Amino acid sequence: MTLAGQADRFALYERAVQEPAVQVRVVEDLFRARTGRAPVDLREDFAGTALFARTFVQGDPARRAWAVDLDPAPLAWARARGVGDEPRLTLVQADVVDVGPPAVPPVDVVVALNYSFFLLTERARLRAYLARAREGLRPGGALVLEVAGGPELQERGEEATDHGDFTFVWDQQAYDPIHSRARCAIHFSFPDGSALRDAFTYEWRVWSIVELRELLAEAGFAASVVLWEGPGDDGEGDRTFVPCERAPAEEAWIAYVVGWRAP
Ligand SMILES: C[S@@+](CC[C@H](N)C(=O)[O-])C[C@H]1O[C@@H](n2cnc3c(N)ncnc32)[C@H](O)[C@@H]1O
Repeated sequence: MTLAGQADRFALYERAVQEPAVQVRVVEDLFRARTGRAPVDLREDFAGTALFARTFVQGDPARRAWAVDLDPAPLAWARARGVGDEPRLTLVQADVVDVGPPAVPPVDVVVALNYSFFLLTERARLRAYLARAREGLRPGGALVLEVAGGPELQERGEEATDHGDFTFVWDQQAYDPIHSRARCAIHFSFPDGSALRDAFTYEWRVWSIVELRELLAEAGFAASVVLWEGPGDDGEGDRTFVPCERAPAEEAWIAYVVGWRAP
C-alpha cells in the first residue's frame, strides 16, 4: 500500500497545522491580564480532535474542558485514543450555534481557533453563534477568536511545507472579493510519490476584524480587544500577542479578537 493509503489525516493535521502550546499560553495570558486569575473551565468550539482542549487540561489538574464539534469523525478519532476517558475533558457532538448551558456548563473561556468560525458564512448565523457563546460564558468570561487576514489570503496557489516524512500543502483555490468567500484545501504528499489530495476542504467567509468587533457588540459583549503579534527580531512574528488598536498592513497576519462578557 502507498504511504498515502496508510496515512491518518487527523494525525497529519495535528502535526502540520496546530500549535496548541502557543495558543494555550495566549489564552492564559490574556485571561490573567484582565481578571488576575488563571482560567479553569474552557470550551473549545470547532474542536476537531480536541488537541487544544487536551493541552489546556494537561496544564493544571484543576482544569476542565468541553470540546465541541459537529462532525463525529474527528471526535471518534480522539475517543479511540482515550480522549474523553478522563472526566476533566468531555467531547460533545453538537452545532456550536446551539451548544451551551445546560448541556455544557458556563465556562471562563470559549475558544474558536484557526479561523474555524470562517465556516459560518452568513452574518446572522455568525451573530447567533457569538450570542450563544456569550451565554456559555460566566460573567467576566472571554470568547477568543483566532483570525487570519492580509492580501496573501486572496491569492491563488499552493504553499508546501516539508515535515520530513510528509509534505503539507496549503492550497488557496479561489477567492471572491464581492462576498469575501475563499475556497481552500489541505493536501498531504509523501516520499513514495503518493498523495492525499483534499484531505480537508474549506468554504470560508473571510471576516475582517472590524466586522467581528461590530458583531461581538451586537451579540451583547461588553468589550472587545484585538491582540496583534509582536514583530520579533526578524520581523516574521514572535508568537506573542499584545493588545493593539493600530497595526501595520502586513501581507499575511494572524491575530486574536477577544470578546469580554460583562463581569
Ligand atoms: C479547521 S477544523 C478545526 C480543527 C482544530 N480545532 C484547529 O484549531 O485546527 C474545523 C472543525 O469545525 C467543525 N465544524 C464546522 N462547522 C461546525 C459547527 N457549526 N459546529 C461545530 N463544529 C463545526 C468541523 O467539523 C471541523 O472539525
